[in-house]
Amino acid sequence: CQYSFSQLQNMTSELSVNHLQSNRMEGGATGPHDGCLSSPCFPGAKCTSFPDGSFKCGRCPLGYNGNGITCKDINECKAVPDACHNHNGIHRCENTEPGYNCLPCPARFSGPQPFGRGVEQATAKKQVWIIPDFLFIVAFHASYEVCTPRNPCQDGSHNCHKHANCIYLGVYSESMFRCECKPGYAGNGRICGEDSDLDGWPNADLVCVENATYQCKKDNCPNIPNSGQEDYDNDGLGDECDNDDDNDGIPDDRDNCERVYNPSQYDTDRDEVGDSCDNCIFEANTDQTDTDKNGEGDACAVDIDGDGILNEVDNCIYVYNVDQRDTDNDGVGDHCDNCPLEHNPDQVDSDSDNVGDKCDNNQDIDEDGHQNNMDNCPYIPNANQADHDKDGKGDACDHDDDNDGIPDDKDNCRLVFNPDQVDSDGDGRGDICKDDFDNDKVLDVNDVCPENFAISETDFRRFQMVPLDPKGTSQIDPNWVVRHQGKELVQTVNCDPGIAVGYDEFNAVDFSGTFFINTDRDDDYAGFVFGYQSSSRFYTVMWKQITQTYWSHTPTRAQGYSGLSIKVVNSTTGPGEHLRNALWHTGDTANQVRTLWHDPLKIGWKDFTAYRWHLTHRPKSGLIRVVMYEGKRIMADSGNIYDKTYAGGRLGLFVFSQEMVYFSDLKYECKGKHKFKKF
Ligand SMILES: *[C@@H]1O[C@H](CO)[C@@H](O)[C@H](O)[C@H]1NC(C)=O
Ligand SMILES: *[C@@H]1O[C@H](CO)[C@@H](O)[C@H](O)[C@H]1NC(C)=O
Repeated sequence: CQYSFSQLQNMTSELSVNHLQSNRMEGGATGPHDGCLSSPCFPGAKCTSFPDGSFKCGRCPLGYNGNGITCKDINECKAVPDACHNHNGIHRCENTEPGYNCLPCPARFSGPQPFGRGVEQATAKKQVWIIPDFLFIVAFHASYEVCTPRNPCQDGSHNCHKHANCIYLGVYSESMFRCECKPGYAGNGRICGEDSDLDGWPNADLVCVENATYQCKKDNCPNIPNSGQEDYDNDGLGDECDNDDDNDGIPDDRDNCERVYNPSQYDTDRDEVGDSCDNCIFEANTDQTDTDKNGEGDACAVDIDGDGILNEVDNCIYVYNVDQRDTDNDGVGDHCDNCPLEHNPDQVDSDSDNVGDKCDNNQDIDEDGHQNNMDNCPYIPNANQADHDKDGKGDACDHDDDNDGIPDDKDNCRLVFNPDQVDSDGDGRGDICKDDFDNDKVLDVNDVCPENFAISETDFRRFQMVPLDPKGTSQIDPNWVVRHQGKELVQTVNCDPGIAVGYDEFNAVDFSGTFFINTDRDDDYAGFVFGYQSSSRFYTVMWKQITQTYWSHTPTRAQGYSGLSIKVVNSTTGPGEHLRNALWHTGDTANQVRTLWHDPLKIGWKDFTAYRWHLTHRPKSGLIRVVMYEGKRIMADSGNIYDKTYAGGRLGLFVFSQEMVYFSDLKYECKGKHKFKKF
């Protein structure tokens, strides 16, 4: 714009006063004055003078609007309401004069903090956050400046020990990562020391500053796995390597109460459990089972399950059921009836899938172990049957898992009812499920299945014994001893093939544990199972010490090779001699077992040697991988194997003809995220 002097005088009085003053100083009358001498334009706007004394102001500087003489700051934050990330209706943008800048990425995210001047710049590079649960909502655009979740495991900002793995926990975890000592080491992850027996306790004390998530104290029995560190007499020597746990002078192998001081050894009912530790002194009960855990063994309890209904009239003797409902009138209460809607007083369940034969059709179109008419998502594999709103429709096929009216793909707490969607820190996760996604009162960082209310820690205290050769009389049934709150199981006898299978059910899962044979007797099989659906349908990883032909050649000849095997069992006969021999055999047996992988090096297990396995199972892709460590070194690795026979199931431990098998420091973890859910 070009102005004459008089026009200018009218426009701003201040400016004109300055102008006149400067004219006077120049002594003005001698000729036409220089219109720009008095700096009439806005700072930063170009001034051009003309011979007649007039001048012209150029454009306002970037970030301002006006005529060049007067320029006003542009509020880019208002002009471009999505220049920066919006959260809860608040535009995280700071206007400055001139220009603007976006506020930093939220905690646990990193990314650029765009700034600039003027509408054009604010439009050109917008700041967006990638919120993992809502990834698909963000339409990518080349000009976006993206705040992405930080990953300390990748950006090097973690502080894990050199012998630890850094485990990324995701952006919603305050700490974002966890350190886990590698196989062969134990400690809290910040510090890791050698752990010869692979039970999670180091050989020597570690100087841990932070509280140990995994242990820093010296192993009280460094050469035999004992992840629970039980030490009954508190003498610093773990029970596992203490010959007299209770210090009563009777060595454990002869003591009828290993863990109670009873030098007299009285045993009234002669059940080999001394009176001092017997939960039924006058009733022989070597197994000491105590269903309601009230200290009184089942053998002498009048109300085994403690539901206030005496055994003789209780329609579920072993299951707490005050209501005594019995829909099908078969004398077995609904709570313990394996066919609650069909009259089956005998409760026969030949395939050990917890569905009685009477109502068991094993028609299971999605192969997830739950037959169609009992599957809460019959067409979508969901072996875990998770159904957080208990509406009868499994989460896997429910568009609104928590029934709060917000569809899952928009819900900031998918599993917890929160129609208000309050998210104070704006990280994309609602306040109500902030550190505990499934609201099971176990913080996500400690929860082995943060997205499943039903599972929060590894626990094999409750398990189902599944004999795989029940009719065979060749050997006895396995004897499982539970320790460490169900994280350690020991099988003590030379037995027929059998599984101790836990009740937790899994889709994708990681399963690890320490394997140790605490004897030099025998050379047979031990291992574990996964994807267990019934005694005819499961995967097994089994390990034989030496190559050997099974003593019985009927019904099929069975040649078992040393080395790890991964097998898929799909047996038309179920438990019995067919399955027994097929399990022993390395290779395939029609209608029974298929071998998916066998260690080509055929390395057998060694006596008194600790090994640690790690299983990866991702049923969706069929991925199976087993890595076995001997100490710190990988001893065998199956590599990625793909098999889609079963879409998940239960986990368990397997033995066949091998005694003193220790399964220690057991750990399972759910894997796989909801965002991969398919509708
Ligand atoms: C560390 O452990 C002690 C004892 O178990 C506990 O009282 C304390 O709160 C813990 N500190 C932290 C920071 O977790
Ligand atoms: C299991 O075996 C049966 C009989 O051979 C076969 O029909 C079925 O498809 C198999 N199941 C799976 C999941 O492979």
